Amino acid sequence: MAHIALIGATGTIGSRILDEALRRGHTVTAVVRDPAKLDRTAAALTVETGDVLDTAALPKLLAGHDVVVSAVGGGDGPGHQATIAPAAKSLVEALRAVDGGPRLIVVNGAGSLRAADGTQVWDKPGLPDWLLQIMHAHGDALDYLRGVTDVNWTALSPAATIEAGERTGQYRTGEDDLVSDAEGVSWVSAEDYAVALVDEIEQPKYEGRRFTVAR
Ligand SMILES: NC(=O)c1ccc[n+]([C@@H]2O[C@H](COP(=O)([O-])OP(=O)(O)OC[C@H]3O[C@@H](n4cnc5c(N)ncnc54)[C@H](OP(=O)(O)O)[C@@H]3O)[C@@H](O)[C@H]2O)c1
Repeated sequence: MAHIALIGATGTIGSRILDEALRRGHTVTAVVRDPAKLDRTAAALTVETGDVLDTAALPKLLAGHDVVVSAVGGGDGPGHQATIAPAAKSLVEALRAVDGGPRLIVVNGAGSLRAADGTQVWDKPGLPDWLLQIMHAHGDALDYLRGVTDVNWTALSPAATIEAGERTGQYRTGEDDLVSDAEGVSWVSAEDYAVALVDEIEQPKYEGRRFTVAR
């Protein structure tokens, strides 16, 4: 059983990670900006108020955990990208001040993954500017993490499309290459993404690396 601190537990992806971690018997501290927004109770769930960008306050909130998971973002649309890379930096700086060095697992984006034709997903023509900004913010966060050697980090990129769906427990992983099915579709449910992330908590395979998960 792992003691997990989860930031972003009220979000689409974070709420699935929360459910998956609890169903598998882990204890979770959800660090949320507004506890009233967290629509979940469980004996193994503790709720703390905090902001991922408040670096000075984080060490106290994150101490005593085995793993810190960040699923922060800001919804669809403009403004979201501003949180992503600063959040990664804030978490790394905070974890440097935590005794015992919890592991860090961050939800990343699919934009920087390599497609079959050698381009990156964010090179696809016609992507809206707001989405490109989010994709590149995740790319910046990943570049930053790749330079970090004193915090045990992992980044998990979803398939090209991630959406609420079914928990099947079936998924495939890759590293920097987009994982697609026989029809060329790269897709994962948020539920199976959460399964893969909690599997990585239980059996680490990608420490110091990014990996991706698809159906
Ligand atoms: N959904 C997708 O299609 C998709 C695809 C690829 C990558 N991603 C990435 O996955 C991450 C999560 O996406 P999502 O769709 O689950 O987002 P979401 O539903 O908008 O949830 C975002 C979460 O981040 C939290 N948050 C934002 N700023 C915060 C801060 N300063 N301190 C603490 N918590 C903060 C929000 O908390 P509040 O409740 O307080 O607002 C919320 O829990 C994002 O980085 C996103 O770019 C998403």
